[in-house]
Amino acid sequence: MIYLDNAATSFKKPEQVKNAVLNAINKYTANPGRSGHKLSQLAAEVVFDTREKLKQFFNAQNYEVVFTKNCTEALNLAIFGCLNAGDNVITTCYEHNSVLRPLEKLKSNGVEIDVLFCDVQNLKTEIEKHIKPNTKMIITTACSNVTGECVDIDAISKLAKKYNIRYLVDGAQSSGHIKIDLSNSNIDMYAFAGHKGLLACTGVGGLIVKKDLKLRPLLFGGTGTDSENLVQPTDIPEGLEAGTIPSLPIISLNAGLDFLLKNFNQITEIEQKLSNYLYNKLINLNFLEVYSKPNSKNVFSFNVKGVDSSTIANILNDNFDICVRSGLHCAPLVHKKLNTLEQGGAVRVSIDFYNTYQEIDKLIDALIKINSQTKQQF
Ligand code: ALA
Repeated sequence: MIYLDNAATSFKKPEQVKNAVLNAINKYTANPGRSGHKLSQLAAEVVFDTREKLKQFFNAQNYEVVFTKNCTEALNLAIFGCLNAGDNVITTCYEHNSVLRPLEKLKSNGVEIDVLFCDVQNLKTEIEKHIKPNTKMIITTACSNVTGECVDIDAISKLAKKYNIRYLVDGAQSSGHIKIDLSNSNIDMYAFAGHKGLLACTGVGGLIVKKDLKLRPLLFGGTGTDSENLVQPTDIPEGLEAGTIPSLPIISLNAGLDFLLKNFNQITEIEQKLSNYLYNKLINLNFLEVYSKPNSKNVFSFNVKGVDSSTIANILNDNFDICVRSGLHCAPLVHKKLNTLEQGGAVRVSIDFYNTYQEIDKLIDALIKINSQTKQQF
């Protein structure tokens, strides 16, 4: 089996990640931050250590880390936690439904949304043109999950600071693949997923939020703090993390971060070489329409001209044992911009450092065979 769907979730986790989870299940899966006994304290120490490692990895010393169950929940927390009726939000067509759907919901509460359909390179200029007196938030992804294009988030963060507007970055795809340096930017909130580039299991994500920023909670309940008070505590992170936090996924994230802190440069170098190799092969297949350019996110979308994207992905799976993702990738507006809605979206290949040149060659051979077979059929 060849796995080329790492933008959905990374498949091969480092041995350290698997061992950390097994060790924790065997030795200390008590509830962190609740009971006072030694197992609970041990679990709480690893959770604390994971927050510190995230701050180190993202250079986020002036930030707090709030754990959530995934990146979608982190984005919801940021969006519902800040915006009020009458506010304007500027966002882009490159966003995932985890941004677009909460915003659509807020429209009915009187929040005004501007979605920009320009090219990634023009985003900063277009955003500046759209800023109004009531613009309270700018939201962009750091990297598109469809084209792999990366947004100049540092430049946009400076713009946000100039106009005193909050900037929320969706880091679902960028984390673990491109260098993110929060302390040298003006990003207010950065949402991440644990299970993609950060190499953890599914079940943990988070919002890295500037220390002075106050958010309304999404969830209300036990925090292990100020328990006689029926009003939800406002302290961050506890007040925003009601309920038992996902300690096993957090432990896996801790080990994933160790791996990345040690190997990040090497990993990105390998990924870059594989990405360039794949891109050069794809653009040489004249029966393909390729929508991506070379990128550091290692995501490439394309279609076999005239064939529905799901047909190609299904044949790759059924006949060649190659896993890719087709369809809209939960990001419908970028497909509208690319004009790929009629082909049911696009075929997306997303690679990670553990993929090989041989796997890419097999994908290319499979596409050539599929093209000649489908031409006979259609
Ligand atoms: N958002 C994930 C993807 O792009 C699931 O596939």
